[in-house]
Amino acid sequence: MSSSVRSDGSQPQPGDSHGSTRMPLCLTVNGTLHRLEIDPRESLLDVLRERLDLTGTKKGCNQGACGACTVLVDGRRINSCLALAAMYNDAHVSTIEGLSPADGDLHPLQAAFIAHEGFQCGFCTAGQIMSGVACIGEGHAASADEVRFWMSGNICRCGAYPGVVAAIAEVGGRKLS
Ligand code: FES
Ligand code: FES
Repeated sequence: MSSSVRSDGSQPQPGDSHGSTRMPLCLTVNGTLHRLEIDPRESLLDVLRERLDLTGTKKGCNQGACGACTVLVDGRRINSCLALAAMYNDAHVSTIEGLSPADGDLHPLQAAFIAHEGFQCGFCTAGQIMSGVACIGEGHAASADEVRFWMSGNICRCGAYPGVVAAIAEVGGRKLS
């Protein structure tokens, strides 16, 4: 029997204290520095959701196919479900919770999603907005066609694509700083 199989026959799971050494991780999330002890197998998504209670970032497919887990790491968008947190020591992560101040105005792209009805159930929305912020920052939002292409990794089961594209194209056209 493999040493990675527990005595009850089950496989170790991310977050278990058995079967893996722990490692330190320094992560700055939305401007706040966190010093954590993690299992090296934990995804960045699980660290955000399960350890830091930042549940705005959603777990959809958990295999890199839907974009619901999109966050920005050092300014670049990634699927956090595919990212081992251990690879991001000292990184700066931005999630939907940090996009606008709790007692301040919405980020222009959040406001545009509301204005253009870019969501229905909302499950994909945090990932869409974080990806949209990056899409605009990359200079890939000059037209609706360009937005469709560069947002193709973010899936919406509700089919709210027309509103998503309209919101990003509009804000991209404003050339946000
Ligand atoms: S949950 Fe990460 S891509 Fe679907
Ligand atoms: S709004 Fe429901 S999945 Fe996109």
